Amino acid sequence: MFEKNQEYPLAPANGHHRSDEEAAPPSSKELKGKKRIKCAVYVAVLAVVQAGIILLLALTVLKIRTPKLRLGTLTIESMQTETSGLPSFNMRFNAQVKVKNTNFGHYKFDAGNVTFLYQGVTIGQAMVPKARAKARSTKKVDVGVELNSASLPSTENLGSELGSNVLTLNSQAKLSGEVELLKVIKKNKSAQMNCTITFNVSTKMLQNLSCK
Ligand SMILES: *[C@@H]1O[C@H](CO)[C@@H](O)[C@H](O)[C@H]1NC(C)=O
Ligand SMILES: *[C@@H]1O[C@H](CO)[C@@H](O)[C@H](O)[C@H]1NC(C)=O
Ligand SMILES: *[C@@H]1O[C@H](CO)[C@@H](O)[C@H](O)[C@H]1NC(C)=O
Ligand SMILES: *[C@@H]1O[C@H](CO)[C@@H](O)[C@H](O)[C@H]1NC(C)=O
Ligand SMILES: *[C@@H]1O[C@H](CO)[C@@H](O)[C@H](O)[C@H]1NC(C)=O
Repeated sequence: MFEKNQEYPLAPANGHHRSDEEAAPPSSKELKGKKRIKCAVYVAVLAVVQAGIILLLALTVLKIRTPKLRLGTLTIESMQTETSGLPSFNMRFNAQVKVKNTNFGHYKFDAGNVTFLYQGVTIGQAMVPKARAKARSTKKVDVGVELNSASLPSTENLGSELGSNVLTLNSQAKLSGEVELLKVIKKNKSAQMNCTITFNVSTKMLQNLSCK
């Protein structure tokens, strides 16, 4: 009787305890499951964000662009033209050569020549020494240029052009170099230009300068 009584209060206690234990594991499993889902969502979101950042970097910082080569300001020092008799010209000017580097790393270029032509014939050259254009900046190099019509095989067209008070020249150049990104990524890139320069013969001034 006493034993039974003792057993009786124990039994429900045991039972209650057991049922508590049985109820607890599923709820903690559920919690763990929820945590795992949350975790997976965070990882997925992080992965997407990371992929986005990498894509953005690839499209901006890591993209290697060809540096642009242009002629900037052109300052005439002297200019002589002869329209009557044997047409000729002779001039000296200072030209600013601009290397525009839009990369997120420097552009190191070798020395190169800027060539000036009259109707396809080379009439003069100027040397651009080797240098580097810093990341996202424009390197400006001033060159002195001396040109004359002495090397032209024919001055027939020159006479009529000078007669109409204009002198049109072409300037071409190509610089070879290397773009360096993050100190490890290197790529050879050459910058090219082709400019058309028009002088006003009567005012001895620059009339137009356009590069492409
Ligand atoms: C530039 O022109 C000079 C003279 O024509 C030539 O000796 C030199 O090799 C040229 N430089 C380059 C980099 O082409
Ligand atoms: C040269 O410049 C003068 C003065 O600005 C102008 O009147 C003339 O039309 C120009 N010549 C040419 C061929 O454009
Ligand atoms: C770039 O060209 C130079 C020779 O002009 C060569 O030595 C160098 O290895 C080249 N670099 C790359 C990254 O191709
Ligand atoms: C440069 O441009 C002129 C006209 O603007 C063109 O006749 C010439 O063929 C071009 N040269 C090169 C090397 O692209
Ligand atoms: C300069 O030349 C360019 C290209 O040939 C032309 O579009 C532009 O109108 C010219 N500008 C002037 C002021 O003549």
